[in-house]
Amino acid sequence: MIVEAKGLRKRYNHVWALDGLDLAVQEGEIYGLLGPNGSGKTTTILILLGLTEPTAGTVRVCGYNPVREPLAVKRVVGYLSEKVGFYEELSARENLQLITRLNGIPDREAKKRIEEALEHVGLADVAGRPVATFSHGMRQRLGIADVLVKKPRLAILDEPTSGIDPEGAVQILDLIKRLRDEAGMTIILSSHLLYQVQRICDRVGILQRGRMVAEGTVAELVGAGEGYWAKVEGATPALRARLEGEDWTFAVEELAPGLLQVALEENARAALFRIVAEEGAVISELRPRVRTLEEIYLRYFQE
Ligand SMILES: Nc1ncnc2c1ncn2[C@@H]1O[C@H](COP(=O)(O)OP(=O)(O)O)[C@@H](O)[C@H]1O
Ligand SMILES: [Mg+2]
Repeated sequence: MIVEAKGLRKRYNHVWALDGLDLAVQEGEIYGLLGPNGSGKTTTILILLGLTEPTAGTVRVCGYNPVREPLAVKRVVGYLSEKVGFYEELSARENLQLITRLNGIPDREAKKRIEEALEHVGLADVAGRPVATFSHGMRQRLGIADVLVKKPRLAILDEPTSGIDPEGAVQILDLIKRLRDEAGMTIILSSHLLYQVQRICDRVGILQRGRMVAEGTVAELVGAGEGYWAKVEGATPALRARLEGEDWTFAVEELAPGLLQVALEENARAALFRIVAEEGAVISELRPRVRTLEEIYLRYFQE
């Protein structure tokens, strides 16, 4: 595990921003921290980076304890903060030069890394322009270049696509994916945007009020064991009433006269066949009811 946190709690005055969070990230994966605003994503990230201390719990990042060895963590972890700041009057290239100097990267090596990073994020052509002239999307890409020049083992990106239009967001996500695929970096990214996390993350953790309420691959979270959808043709009002009365139906909907759509529990297929046959109707379709990640998200976040 490149990141391992157990029982993290963090209190700000009277607010528990984190309330017993466990997190484990494997080397080489893209891990998505997903949760609504205020769920504790940034707090988690700041603790991993050693920028704030947990009130309780333990944390290790790349083998170091960020509480006691924040500088060691800083050397091996790249960080894109929620609010990236640059020197506006300096060019993109000059901003990156400052970063490489701060990180003690020798000039010749720095020059090579900077040009590679600018190329990687698609800013090579505008690298001489002052950052003041950059759009929000260009700034985010410069922020990623900023992470890249450090060649970190682990990159932590806090809401890298927030405030960016959907098309620009897709470009940034694909760029992040390439960091993992080509540079072999492990990546943790946070987002409150479900579809974006779903697009590139190997695993997702859903945060809610400072707790991890669900975790797994997108496929695991979506899951297939959620019962079935059935379509019933030739249904009478009596059949509809019977189905509505069963405790193994989630929903019974009349799509057209005599045509019902029924959501049923996993183990209720035999019961459905029996009742439908008794009432002289037919089942014209039966398919597994797969949850979308959106349903999961709503289930946790609407509580
Ligand atoms: N510096 C702070 N002082 C007081 N409360 C804070 C501070 N930072 C975060 N919080 C609170 O902690 C909770 C989690 O915040 P945060 O980690 O920023 O969530 P997220 O990044 O998921 O939006 C929120 O209730 C927020 O208001
Ligand atoms: Mg945040």
